[in-house]
Amino acid sequence: MPDWARASFERRVPIRMTGDMNVARALWGRYLDPMSIGADYSSGNHPATEGQLPKGDLLVLGLETSCDETAASVVRLTPDGTATVLSSVVHSQIDDHAAFGGVVPEIAARSHVEMIAGVTERAMTEAGLGYGELDGVAATAGPGLVGGVMVGLSFGKAAALARGLPFVGVNHLEGHAVSARLGAPVAYPFLLLLVSGGHCQLLEVRGIGDMSRLGTTIDDAAGEAFDKIAKAMGLGYPGGPALEKLAASGDGSRFDLPRALLGRKDCDFSFSGLKTAASRLAQTVETDQDRADLADAVQSAIARQLAERSERAMKDYAEKHAHRLFVVAGGVAANRTVRSTLESVAAKHGFSFFAPPMAYCTDNAAMIALAGAERLQLGLTSDIDTAARPRWPLDEARALADPVHPAGRKGAKA
Ligand code: KG4
Ligand code: ZN
Repeated sequence: MPDWARASFERRVPIRMTGDMNVARALWGRYLDPMSIGADYSSGNHPATEGQLPKGDLLVLGLETSCDETAASVVRLTPDGTATVLSSVVHSQIDDHAAFGGVVPEIAARSHVEMIAGVTERAMTEAGLGYGELDGVAATAGPGLVGGVMVGLSFGKAAALARGLPFVGVNHLEGHAVSARLGAPVAYPFLLLLVSGGHCQLLEVRGIGDMSRLGTTIDDAAGEAFDKIAKAMGLGYPGGPALEKLAASGDGSRFDLPRALLGRKDCDFSFSGLKTAASRLAQTVETDQDRADLADAVQSAIARQLAERSERAMKDYAEKHAHRLFVVAGGVAANRTVRSTLESVAAKHGFSFFAPPMAYCTDNAAMIALAGAERLQLGLTSDIDTAARPRWPLDEARALADPVHPAGRKGAKA
């Protein structure tokens, strides 16, 4: 074998090789199917021994590039769990995608490449810190548009390697789950409704890395429903905020939109019937007032379903937990009607209610830095060869045992 092929003194094999699979499996087995969920490639958490656990405050740089925001943030976490955001820089790519009516994955990935260094530098400057003062680097490792995930992940690994810092690959959903703790001293455990463009789930959150899924959408996510209906109504991208604005001057009571999963005992969601009905109605409305009325009807229908399914989960949760806290997080939690509808349902069932500040509802890196810091506090770090994951359920065991969506080539859906 020529020298160039054996710099590491091991056989070089292409990742997707043909030929002697046994040799490849022995050397690089876990790379052979990097999409498969059972592979030991990105949950590479290394628990520290008691003596190695960090004692004081932790300063962590977080990076987020899983969709259409390039974001970097520095968060300080004290031993008692108090989080302070020292900086949170978010570059939105809305202008890059608006003309296409949705996120174009390749444009997103290329924009992350251009922006990540500048956004990170700004986050460090605004925090008033040098890399030498950090205790770790955290980056979203999935789920998301994998071309984008790879940008922040690789950048984060490089920063950690260059400075000899611990690296933490963070599940984007875990970031949303802890985002409430950025705004207030929210204590574990809590019942979480995670509603974003890609996900709609109810979760029991007992702590970092310790969450069980109680229900999930069987078709579209709530944010996806907002976006698709808004698109059918000719509103811009992203649709959620545009639809909320239009709904403010509407009265949707004359529209009778379908209600999904009524009477079902589980905590799952479904928005496809509503999406189809509303998109059909969007073709028939004529005046600006009609459109505002339809927007209001859609917003109320989405809020109502979120409330109905959350109510179902609250009943189960209340049987197990004396401390009743209900948290809503993710981009759709920025919607005022959604927030207020959920707040009343929580009050009705004796739950206190918390939603993160608006800036931490939609994608940001402060939530990734905090999730990373909480992991570091427990002594959990990730392998430097952690892979980017297009799919990565928070509750992997439940997703595998009880898949709502077939696992497919890319692994189980969240
Ligand atoms: O959490 P996020 O920023 O990204 C994902 O992880 O998906 O959520 C984005 C989603 C989009 O679907 C967007 O339309 C929705 O959140 N969203 C809203 C509002 N602001 C953002 N939906 C309804 N009303 C809003 N004000
Ligand atoms: Zn998100």
